[in-house]
Amino acid sequence: MTTDDLAGLAAVVTGGASGIGLATASLLAERGARVAVLDLDPAPLKEPLTGFTADVGADASVRAAVDAAAETFGGIDIVVNCAGISAVGTVEDNPDEQWSRVLDVNVVGIVRTTRAALPHLRRSSHASVVNIGSIVTTTGLPQRALYAASKGAVMSLTLSMAADHVREGIRFNCVNPGTVDTPWIGRLLAAAEDPVAERAALNARQPTGRMVRADEVAAAIAYLASPAAASVTGTALAVDGGMAGLRLRPEAKP
Ligand code: NAI
Repeated sequence: MTTDDLAGLAAVVTGGASGIGLATASLLAERGARVAVLDLDPAPLKEPLTGFTADVGADASVRAAVDAAAETFGGIDIVVNCAGISAVGTVEDNPDEQWSRVLDVNVVGIVRTTRAALPHLRRSSHASVVNIGSIVTTTGLPQRALYAASKGAVMSLTLSMAADHVREGIRFNCVNPGTVDTPWIGRLLAAAEDPVAERAALNARQPTGRMVRADEVAAAIAYLASPAAASVTGTALAVDGGMAGLRLRPEAKP
């Protein structure tokens, strides 16, 4: 079923050239929104998405792209903060420079984009910001100390911004995906000693027995971004195949 519930609204999606961001940008457009994709390299994008080159790690770049998107569309109603980078390791493994870089992109990147969009969001009557957290926001996974610290901060930041701007009519929510089969995971698998076994292990870790699809995360983001969620703010929606909330006994051997 397709609807045009987002007709007349304008959206900015960071990290929208790949994976979850691309699935989200495409779905928002399908549902009637005009969509600006802000990415390091938005070149491969197809109509109707409009690409703007931007690095969420650089304030001037983000401001220029957000303002250009607002000018193109005559405003901004929806912001999806999806751009993010990975880090693998325990607290002993990542040098300070990497801590600075990952926190800068994954956390301060959201600050920069939202800050640039706020003057435009204040003029919207359906203003909504959706941030992308992760299963590691709420669940301890091995080898993810830095990445988890960044995604935990995304959720706290979401709650704080939701409180700050609720009386201006701007909603803030986050979506916490489980492991999603995107180019990101493709890179992780390619680096594994045994990619087939690693894929099987990632599938098996989900109570549903398979990785989440990018379009399933996009559907949750689109809901939170839409006027149907007008009373939803300061929440975290898990799209994780039950990974954060369920405890299953091992399957009985036949
Ligand atoms: P992806 O690697 O397929 O796409 C990420 C996009 O962000 C790319 O287009 C990349 O160019 C862009 N990007 C990276 N750094 C940027 C920067 N500084 N400025 C602008 N754009 C930048 O990754 P995927 O899997 O779609 O992940 C998207 C988000 O979802 C990330 O925030 C990630 O942490 C989160 N996530 C992913 C999960 C997964 O299993 N794939 C699970 C939970 C959360």
